[in-house]
Amino acid sequence: MRKTLPVLCAFLFASFGISYAGAAFLQDKPGSAEPKMTPEDVAKKNPIAATAEGLAQARKLYGYDCAMCHGKDGDGKGDLAADMKLELHDWRDPSTLEKMTDGELFFIISNGKGKMIGGEGDRSPEKMRWNLVNLVRSFAKKGAAEKPKSESPQQ
Ligand code: HEC
Repeated sequence: MRKTLPVLCAFLFASFGISYAGAAFLQDKPGSAEPKMTPEDVAKKNPIAATAEGLAQARKLYGYDCAMCHGKDGDGKGDLAADMKLELHDWRDPSTLEKMTDGELFFIISNGKGKMIGGEGDRSPEKMRWNLVNLVRSFAKKGAAEKPKSESPQQ
């Protein structure tokens, strides 16, 4: 009878350990299933020129699928981003996306990245996703024209 308690404890610890490992495995899953960006993806050129019509179409979709995180004007302060405590880039600052190629933006818009789960790949045709790349870039141009000074308080 004295032996029962330690045995029971060991059993409980073991099953707790298994379910804990199970949960960790489930959490890992979305990350490990994420497709990898290849050098060809990064080098991809944007085949779609930015036109008023293309930008207008992209802006509509952006309003439904992106603004809740990236903000209506690309400032990264959407409601969902605040709820999820996401630190998103402010695309209005032209230096933010300067170092990223159109191919990289296209890949992330298509496949998502990290907490940006999924992406538009299975929802929108390729042309629309390139229009979204143009739209994301256009936030910076607009911001640069309206606000020549940096917002950052350290400078
Ligand atoms: C759930 C919130 C969320 C939604 C919705 C979302 N994103 Fe994102 N997005 C993110 C996060 C978080 C990152 C940063 C990912 C990282 O670097 O780990 C990101 C990164 C990006 C990037 C790469 C540049 C950068 O600032 O890091 C682009 C481009 C982008 N998103 C475009 C879009 C577009 C276009 C849509 C709509 C089709 C969209 N996102 C919808 C959260 C979101």
